[in-house]
Amino acid sequence: MKIGVIAGSFRQGSYSVMLAKAIMKELKTECEVQFVEIKDLPHFNQDFESGETPQAVLDFRTVIQGCDGFVFVTPEYNRSYPGVLKNALDTASRPSGQDLWAHKPAAVVGVSPGRLAALAAVLAFRQPLSFLNVRLYSESELCLGGFANAVDENGEIKDETVKGLIVDFAADFIAFSKKL
Ligand SMILES: Cc1cc2nc3c(=O)[nH]c(=O)nc-3n(C[C@H](O)[C@H](O)[C@H](O)COP(=O)(O)O)c2cc1C
Repeated sequence: MKIGVIAGSFRQGSYSVMLAKAIMKELKTECEVQFVEIKDLPHFNQDFESGETPQAVLDFRTVIQGCDGFVFVTPEYNRSYPGVLKNALDTASRPSGQDLWAHKPAAVVGVSPGRLAALAAVLAFRQPLSFLNVRLYSESELCLGGFANAVDENGEIKDETVKGLIVDFAADFIAFSKKL
């Protein structure tokens, strides 16, 4: 089983990327894992379907096709998820009838330096995912607030409670995915 991990931020020192890497470390104990880059994806344009499709789009679709499940790590932007994540979803959902997310297990994880732990982003992101027919994981939800205090200067998780939550999440998500 190969799990693709996608983070909704590209900035240097991104908490989303730090959390994505920490989750990957745990997932790797049981399955193959790939960090799926989305920063070079062009804005989705439906003309791609009738004209020349950019190579970055074709490459991205190949990567998504090769994954058996996904973990999305989202920051919260204005009480929702960042547009780059929606762009990634849209890109691999088309052409019509070729939704590459469908029937695969997917989890949404939220992270924020703020108190509310990106819960609004996570809930909002579930809406397009459910339309795309993914098998949405929701057993042991992971939404981490105050994340700046949970990591050290190298971006490694230093908070033992947070480490435990990540371990539990990864184990549960793998079990959920295997059942499918
Ligand atoms: C455009 C924008 C909107 C934001 N809106 C929220 C928000 O609604 N809730 C929140 O907790 N943090 C919000 N933040 C702060 C982000 O949580 C913070 O910048 C975080 O570090 C972004 O994730 P990253 O570290 O992975 O880049 C916002 C940041 C930006 C740039």
